[in-house]
Amino acid sequence: MDFMPVIETLTLRRLMEEYPVTRDFFQNLNIPPLDREQPLASALIGASDDWLLEFGLTREEIPEQLAEFLRIMTASEEARPVKSLTILGGFDKMGAAEDVSITIDAGTVVSIVGPTGSGKSRLLGDIECLAQGDTPTGRRILIDGEAVDEDERFRLEGKIVAQLSQNMNFVMDLTVGEFLEMHARSRAVGAAGSGQTPGELIQTCFERANSLAGEKFTPDTKVTQLSGGQSRALMIADCAYISRSAIVLIDEIENAGVDRREAIELLARAEKIVLISTHDPLLALGADKRVVIKNGGIFKILETSPEEKESLAAIEKIDRLLTDTRAALRSGERVLLKSEANERDG
Ligand SMILES: Nc1ncnc2c1ncn2[C@@H]1O[C@H](COP(=O)(O)OP(=O)(O)OP(=O)(O)O)[C@@H](O)[C@H]1O
Ligand SMILES: [Mg+2]
Repeated sequence: MDFMPVIETLTLRRLMEEYPVTRDFFQNLNIPPLDREQPLASALIGASDDWLLEFGLTREEIPEQLAEFLRIMTASEEARPVKSLTILGGFDKMGAAEDVSITIDAGTVVSIVGPTGSGKSRLLGDIECLAQGDTPTGRRILIDGEAVDEDERFRLEGKIVAQLSQNMNFVMDLTVGEFLEMHARSRAVGAAGSGQTPGELIQTCFERANSLAGEKFTPDTKVTQLSGGQSRALMIADCAYISRSAIVLIDEIENAGVDRREAIELLARAEKIVLISTHDPLLALGADKRVVIKNGGIFKILETSPEEKESLAAIEKIDRLLTDTRAALRSGERVLLKSEANERDG
């Protein structure tokens, strides 16, 4: 959900009432007392330049950062279990009818494949906003088999669907530990059902994030210092353990330096509905189903066959070779791979 319109219109008082986590944002930035009866932008006009200089921020950047902060922090606050998600076809880029309906159950991972520019991200966008025929594709999204009316859509937006972001440049000066704690608190996790205390859950989440990421980090690492891959790993673990959003959308996970297979399995085990747009064979075949996009429309829906699952082993081997080669190059080693012909000739 885009929080900019909300931030622009609500007074600070209302904003803090609607989204209590806003207080954390202000506290962390050490923002001086502001006039709460005004929206943030107007209230900031009165803020001192010294304070802005201290954080190296402009008056325009603060609302933007808050929007990003709220987007991540409030996702799935008001959890609602979702048993299934249905995509009803609209039109492809040529305006031809997309004659499909696909229902995805909880605990299922679906990959989205197709050429660059074919419309994979668009499909994720349709799901994120719970499209009801009002996006360029004309698709409709049903939750548990039912259309979502305007009121509900507004209420649910950003709450049942989480789109994983790759970096967390919104976050001021938080460490990984502080981020997870703040997040867990805003969602009151561990309170019911999980059998774990919030502290244990945060610990599990942190450990998992680390096992997903190539380079290790500690709870004291600043989130702004995490690499793209480490941020992604943290967001995936956060999604599996802390976030309650039932639907997780991941756009392009590759090259992020994350253990991709483990990431998928982790999310699937958390009984989420996971959709991943990808060009990566490992991810495409690691999913239960794949949706093939062509010209902006869903062209095919394939179940991953047992034979394909078997080929995964071979693909993994090639992938590991590439990963090792990449690691060797990164650490300044020379790379020596013999081609089969070379090997035969001696
Ligand atoms: N059915 C459609 N009708 C109209 N426009 C569409 C449709 N599907 C996709 N588009 C538009 O086509 C453009 C490219 O789509 P998109 O960004 O989703 O491609 P992509 O498959 O994610 O590409 P990449 O692999 O490069 O990330 C976007 O502007 C998108 O809004
Ligand atoms: Mg894309």
